[in-house]
Amino acid sequence: ARVVVLVSGSGTNLQALLDAIARQGPAYGAEVVAVGGDRADIEGLRRAERAGLPTFVCRVRDFATRQEWDQALAEAVAAHRPDLVVSAGFMKIVGPAFLARFGGRFLNTHPALLPSFPGAHGVRDALDYGAKVTGCTVHFVDAGVDSGPVIAQEAVPIREEDDESTLHERIKQVERRLLVDVVGRLARDGYSIKGRKVFIP
Ligand code: GRF
Repeated sequence: ARVVVLVSGSGTNLQALLDAIARQGPAYGAEVVAVGGDRADIEGLRRAERAGLPTFVCRVRDFATRQEWDQALAEAVAAHRPDLVVSAGFMKIVGPAFLARFGGRFLNTHPALLPSFPGAHGVRDALDYGAKVTGCTVHFVDAGVDSGPVIAQEAVPIREEDDESTLHERIKQVERRLLVDVVGRLARDGYSIKGRKVFIP
């Protein structure tokens, strides 16, 4: 399966995918064919360049309206003919044009156990709430924020001494493994929800 990954930050989830593909080769079932970002100078794009992958940048402020950005992002992704699109720390909400093209084959990874703590500060929100357990979720993206069908989740304990960064790093250890597992399984076996084929490789 051809995978396009969208990033906004350090790209360690992307790196986990690249490392798994390098380690497992064709048996993994998926290859990252391009990496896109919502701005230029981010580590995630540099990781892609180091891996010799095509990259693209689609910045909201380069467009007159959000709809034009949404359309441009969809076209930039479509140019790489993906079977699957993965948001790995991509911090923008895509719109109807993007979802019309990639809905049902667009995954997101979120550092909390959805539906708890959706949004851009899931790690901090769980910590501030005083939760004892949080975790990470890989889900299909729908029109909402972190609200699409859940594919996989795993719990991560919150420790007394945790701050946002120590907790986020512990979550990311799990998240990288979960994302690599889900992308590989989808690519090899597809995915159905209650018997209904949702994603066909
Ligand atoms: C991940 O925890 C992701 O769930 C969240 O932002 C983080 C991105 O980390 N949205 P990285 O850029 O993959 O290192």
